[in-house]
Amino acid sequence: MTNYELILTAYEVIENSYAPYSGFNVGAALLAESGKIYTGVNVENSSYGATICAERTAFVKAISEGERSFKKLAVVSSGRDLTWPCGICRQFFSEFCNDNFEIISGDKEGNIKVYTLSELFPEGFKL
Ligand code: THU
Repeated sequence: MTNYELILTAYEVIENSYAPYSGFNVGAALLAESGKIYTGVNVENSSYGATICAERTAFVKAISEGERSFKKLAVVSSGRDLTWPCGICRQFFSEFCNDNFEIISGDKEGNIKVYTLSELFPEGFKL
């Protein structure tokens, strides 16, 4: 599974994004160590704080199917610039992923950028 293929998978689900409040659609595709891919979209709520990001949707789907180890995640959005996971999502990833977990952002023009979790979230909180 190339980074580009994972970006395309994230684009396949972005149409399912439920974002009537922000109008900002996000799609994510998460590759587990098992080889399975779990997708996610942002799901907003009229009580704004109840909104869940696309990245965490993908993680929650995977974890609830028994996955615990992950290779990489791609994120795409309807925005003009590359989209990167919010702080809560980064903390969420750090619960399950090691420093080498890759976070890939891409757009329709074919721009792709990759960071490791330790680059995007150094020294995260751990108990
Ligand atoms: N959002 C995501 O789904 N992922 C991100 O990486 C950033 C933000 C969503 C949350 C909300 O539905 C909308 O984008 C605007 O913040």
